[in-house]
Formats: sequence, structure tokens, C-alpha cells
Amino acid sequence: MQTSRQKDPILSIRDLSKTYHCREGDVEALTNLSLDLDRGEIIGILGPNGAGKTTAVKLIMGFIKATRGKITFNMEELKAAEPRPHFGYLPESFRPNPNLTVGEYIGMQYNLALPDGTITNRGEAAAKVSNLLIQVGMAPFAKRRIDRLSKGMGQRIGIAQAIAGNPELMILDEPTSGLDPIGKSEVIDLLLTLKNEGKTILFCSHILAEVERLCDRIGIIVNGNLRFLGKVDDFLTQHQANDLDEGFKKEVKCATS
Ligand SMILES: Nc1ncnc2c1ncn2[C@@H]1O[C@H](COP(=O)(O)OP(=O)(O)OP(=O)(O)O)[C@@H](O)[C@H]1O
Ligand SMILES: [Mg+2]
Repeated sequence: MQTSRQKDPILSIRDLSKTYHCREGDVEALTNLSLDLDRGEIIGILGPNGAGKTTAVKLIMGFIKATRGKITFNMEELKAAEPRPHFGYLPESFRPNPNLTVGEYIGMQYNLALPDGTITNRGEAAAKVSNLLIQVGMAPFAKRRIDRLSKGMGQRIGIAQAIAGNPELMILDEPTSGLDPIGKSEVIDLLLTLKNEGKTILFCSHILAEVERLCDRIGIIVNGNLRFLGKVDDFLTQHQANDLDEGFKKEVKCATS
């Protein structure tokens, strides 16, 4: 039997808003975003370029301060600029240290992700790094320097570093960006495996096909506003669309006309 505690959302966002103040004027990048993410769920945040997806991610990660709104993780309020030890994060532009080998870099990330005071021996760390690289299909490249990797390989390393600390929640900004169709499909399979292992994942994308296969629910953001939140099937019914691509175009057109 589930306790009420287990039913609480892992992440709860309420009325989250961000206005950037720039020389050219104010940019209202995100307006009153509210959503709950359940444990073990994968949610995809979709939106065209400039919709506010990365802004939402940066707010969740605490890299920027919200203009308004509140975020809670396991019912505790998160503040900007505070560490998020239970989060795994893949930034939109992932640029690891180019001078390290893949194995060195993931080893470093693994050590950084260890909780304070944890002592690990070399053998244990090497086994963990090896497992992480196997998980993302990069085991044969452990000795390759980061600056000699293809874009797709780099993205896999990005996912490996995001799972290095065995996080409760993964926040991934465009995890399949720069990958060829096979690479995309492999990353999606990897995310599905992580979901089956009980990970909770929030990711952003503007590539629709991948979202259909992966997500329990989607959120559609246009011009900083959450226009839809729910299951793909419900979205298609609402828009009388045959696929997500058609429904998405209708939604964006409706939001911007
Ligand atoms: N630091 C900033 N200063 C001013 N405006 C910004 C800043 N960062 C983002 N913006 C603006 O906020 C809006 C939302 O940007 P954001 O990067 O969140 O969009 P996005 O949905 O992630 O787009 P993309 O799909 O291109 O990655 C855009 O109008 C963008 O120009
Ligand atoms: Mg973005």
C-alpha cells in the first residue's frame, strides 16, 4: 500500500516566472509555470526555440533566480544557488574538459558526486566508472581524449556524468541534441532503461518523435506559457491531430496568432 508520502510529487513547481532585464528591455521568458512531477515519471517539456525551456531548467537547477514562484523537491523548498545533490543535470551546451580522457573525466565526476565524507577505493571507483561507460555505450572509448570525441559520443558522456551520482531526479536539456538518428534512438533507449530503474526524468526537447516514445506526459511551452500538460494521446485528441508534429504545429500557431 502506498503511503501519502510516496504519492507526494518529487518535484513541484508553482507559478514559476522569470523576467530577464536587459539593455534592450525586459524579456518575460517564463510565466506562471506550474507542474508536479511524480516519482518514476518521465516528462518532456516541448516548445519552439526561445519558448523558455532552458530558462525553466536553469530555475529548477538554481542557476538563476526566479522573478516569482516556488519549487519544492521532496516537499522541501529549493532556493537559487543552493546545491542540488540529488539531481543529475545535462546542460544544453555540454562542454567537458577537453584535455581529459573519457575515463578520467567520468572518474572525476563520480568522485565529485560522492556524498561528503564518503571514502571509496580505487578499485571501487574504477568499477563504477566502467559501469557508467557501459551504461552509455562508451566503454570502448575510456582512453580517448574528450576533444577527440564525436558530438554524439560527447552527449553520451554528458548523460554518464548526469547519472554518476545515482541521482533521484534527472534534468536534461536537449539530451539528444547533435545526435544522428541511431544515436538519438540509443539515447532514448538509455533513458527508458533509466526510467525502468526507477529514475525520474524531466527533459526538454523540440524534437517531437523522441518524446512520444519516451514520455509519460508532455508539457508544451510557447512564449513562456505552459499551453498543455498531460498525456500525448490527450493532446492529440484535443487538437484532432494524427501525430505530435501536427498537434504541436497547431498549438504553436494558435499560441502565436
Ligand atoms: N540571459 C538572458 N538574458 C536575456 N534574455 C534571455 C536570457 N536567456 C534567455 N533569454 C531569452 O528568454 C527567452 C527564452 O529563452 P530560453 O533559452 O529559455 O528558450 P528555449 O526554449 O530553451 O529555446 P531553445 O529551444 O532555442 O533552446 C528567449 O526570448 C531568450 O532570448
Ligand atoms: Mg534551450
